[in-house]
Amino acid sequence: MADTVKIFFIADIVGEPGLSLLETIFPSIREKYKPDFIIANAENSHEGRGLNQSIVKRLYELEVDVITGGNHSFDKWKIFSYMKTDDRLLRPLNYPKGNSGYGYGVYPIKNRDEKVAVLNLQGRTFMQAIDDPFSASDWALSKIREETNLIFVDFHAEATAEKLAYAWYVDGTVSAVVGTHTHIPTADARILPGGTGYITDAGMTGPFDSVIGMDKQTSIKRFTLGTPQRYKIADKDNRMCGVLMEIDSESNKCLSIKSVIYPEFSNTSSKNE
Ligand SMILES: [Fe+2]
Repeated sequence: MADTVKIFFIADIVGEPGLSLLETIFPSIREKYKPDFIIANAENSHEGRGLNQSIVKRLYELEVDVITGGNHSFDKWKIFSYMKTDDRLLRPLNYPKGNSGYGYGVYPIKNRDEKVAVLNLQGRTFMQAIDDPFSASDWALSKIREETNLIFVDFHAEATAEKLAYAWYVDGTVSAVVGTHTHIPTADARILPGGTGYITDAGMTGPFDSVIGMDKQTSIKRFTLGTPQRYKIADKDNRMCGVLMEIDSESNKCLSIKSVIYPEFSNTSSKNE
């Protein structure tokens, strides 16, 4: 009989506000959805840029199985040596050869026979010029398929078009593509015709009384003055964004994909409630 594998993805964790919120609410979310495998993007978890070993430990204590990254994965140089030792801590695969760390991995699922692969890629549009994520994906998928066809991709990119183009490129060959980096959850969670679950951006686990996690006034100055400002993280209106996927363990196709946001956004003024 066909069975399902439930994967829960925790969207980009921003700083201590995001981490603390996660530690408060994730145990009950985990209990509610009972995922078989948990993935979290933590490239912004250390004061908004990068991450460190103690954050990795805190996420493992929450039963996160694999941590993904992005353009801030390499911001804290102290993590470089640790990255080489932990294949559950990923950074985008398509950084040039010679960088520390792993870009994908194949992992056992607790109490089950299946294995799941997690592949972390980064787009190039409006981002630094790194290697081609499409050909990097071709290479990685050829390796991964020797071990499993249950494949999750975190595609970390600025441009909606690049994330969607990638999803169409791999439709039917991976179980799910979840976009990260822009920190605003999109309302397009869907299953593509080939059976790949897709969402353009999972959102953010962190302070939404902000500009994508950054203090509002600092961010406004960046735009009004056109000069860099000292990065200051916001701390109010913390929410957890995530994506829950159910994958058919025989066909490895996505059966359902949906955003999970706590607390949910309201589009009504609190004065009217
Ligand atoms: Fe990013």
